[in-house]
Amino acid sequence: MQFLDNYPTTEDMSGAWCNSSAATSSIMEAVSFVTPVLENFFIRTVSEGLDKARNSELDQRCLAFIHEESGHSRAHKRFNQSLTGYLGGLPPGLTLVEKLLDIARNRLSLPKRLLIASALEHFAAVLSKSYLNEQQRLEMHCDFARELFLRHAEEEIAHRSVVFDLWLSKRTSGRFWRIATMMAILLTGFFYLSIAVPWILHHKLGCRLSATLSALTGFVFGSGRDMQAYLPLTELFWFTRRDFHPDRLVDESLPAK
Ligand SMILES: [Fe+2]
Ligand SMILES: [Fe+2]
Repeated sequence: MQFLDNYPTTEDMSGAWCNSSAATSSIMEAVSFVTPVLENFFIRTVSEGLDKARNSELDQRCLAFIHEESGHSRAHKRFNQSLTGYLGGLPPGLTLVEKLLDIARNRLSLPKRLLIASALEHFAAVLSKSYLNEQQRLEMHCDFARELFLRHAEEEIAHRSVVFDLWLSKRTSGRFWRIATMMAILLTGFFYLSIAVPWILHHKLGCRLSATLSALTGFVFGSGRDMQAYLPLTELFWFTRRDFHPDRLVDESLPAK
């Protein structure tokens, strides 16, 4: 992602830059806003979990992971800056996600935080896999955004097992905690998107309430197939299986670790 450091981000993002749809563009923007917040949690949790003195193969992978996630955060922050320019601020709901992660950081043990990070990384890998499968159908009128989302998805798929393996090396939790974590992520994600997306969309449509409501209704009732394609719940819940390993997300023929 380092090459994006010098990539220009001067394009006007206030319109429908993705698929000529203001709603789809708003979802992409909401995802971009929350990305550095989540990645900060991953980076801090993994740095705590790795043993720099031991320097094992897993520790090397963790260091590479931290490097990649820092690159993603940097690129998304640059992109987000160009969004706050027209939005005039950050979307509501973001503070809640930050607060919840702060609570997790301060109150939960390292293995539990690694469980949350592993589940979120699985979430990211599932979304990235769907994104890569569907990206030919996406038309983006912003070169920086196209490169950013594409490269990010590729790197998420490539490093999808790192946090999981680190979690395995500490201790794993039973099925109950895996299911509870996945449900908490889904609920928080749904809540965040339900607030952030309409807010962004409202700004894109000149703060006209009727236009926002009609665009939202059109999107919800017209994009059922898209929702299923981008968020395959079955794959998300693979994480709750006892024999699950993220390697299998891309190649189901691999044996469970
Ligand atoms: Fe990332
Ligand atoms: Fe990641």
